[in-house]
Amino acid sequence: MSVSQLVRQLDLRNKDALDKVFAKQKFDAVIHFAGLKAVGESVHKPLIYFDNNLIGTIILFQVMAAHGCKKLVFSSSATVYGWPKEVPCTEEFPLKTTNPYGRTKLIIEEMCRDLHGSDSDWKIILLRYFNPVGAHPSGFIGEDPRGIPNNLMPFVQQVAVGRLPALTVFGNDYKTCDGTGVRDFIHVVDLADGHIAALRKLDDPKIGCEVYNLGTGKGTSVLEMVKAFEKASGKKIPLSMGDRRPGDAEIVYASTNKAEKELNWKAKHDIHDMCRDQWNWASKNPYGYGKSGDSSK
Ligand code: WQD
Repeated sequence: MSVSQLVRQLDLRNKDALDKVFAKQKFDAVIHFAGLKAVGESVHKPLIYFDNNLIGTIILFQVMAAHGCKKLVFSSSATVYGWPKEVPCTEEFPLKTTNPYGRTKLIIEEMCRDLHGSDSDWKIILLRYFNPVGAHPSGFIGEDPRGIPNNLMPFVQQVAVGRLPALTVFGNDYKTCDGTGVRDFIHVVDLADGHIAALRKLDDPKIGCEVYNLGTGKGTSVLEMVKAFEKASGKKIPLSMGDRRPGDAEIVYASTNKAEKELNWKAKHDIHDMCRDQWNWASKNPYGYGKSGDSSK
């Protein structure tokens, strides 16, 4: 059986299956994206998040070590900053998580620091994603969350294609330009380029266990993002103003100086590129990867 057949639907918690993959193929490094990521869901089902995200990661690290693969890029998240007291967030900010999803990210970061501390052969880069949005410009690859989207832009996308009636804006009484939450939205293609830059950095003999923010360094409000998407799609997004969402921060955006200097990486796309590419994907794939009209996907 080929490696690609072995890894199809492989669950990281299945140690034997994972071991077979590493026995069959020598890997120079691993980029670890695998994890559940819905903040709201994690509050209601914490054990599923601890089991999937933490046990899966521990087994992955055990199998990597057993096969001498000790280079890792880990997909962490800006959620480890909690509600930052000031912005932009630098990598030195205090870490404080407000939900089980964020706690799994922080615990895995600490596991990585301990791993490197116990064995300096481990070379690890932790990437703290801010708010990934957009799609591949080809229109063939895009975001397709199962069920009702938790995040802003996939929700807006489903309103634009007629799958959902309106967007509820969670709070318009924040101390921001228009009262709505402010975030650092980053194009998924810039995010992907950040991973390539991190893989290259792992070859630097001086690297140990380092953390980098992947954002644009700019804050955009919910209403500004909706307006940009309406412009890109030509669709009107009906809105209703709702209460603040528990656990939401007011303003979060990144300082990207460290990634620019040490990874030679900087985001190239603005919110208009993100909305243009997201609409290109959504208009061609209104039901994501499912069949058209099959909203159960
Ligand atoms: C963005 C803004 C909401 C939905 C989370 C994780 C983070 C990352 C991205 C993984 C907020 C507002 C949203 C809606 C709204 N995940 N909003 N109506 O919470 O900033 O970050 O997802 O990498 O780690 O913490 O993203 O898209 O949920 O919210 O008004 O229907 O949009 O209040 O201000 P968030 P989000």
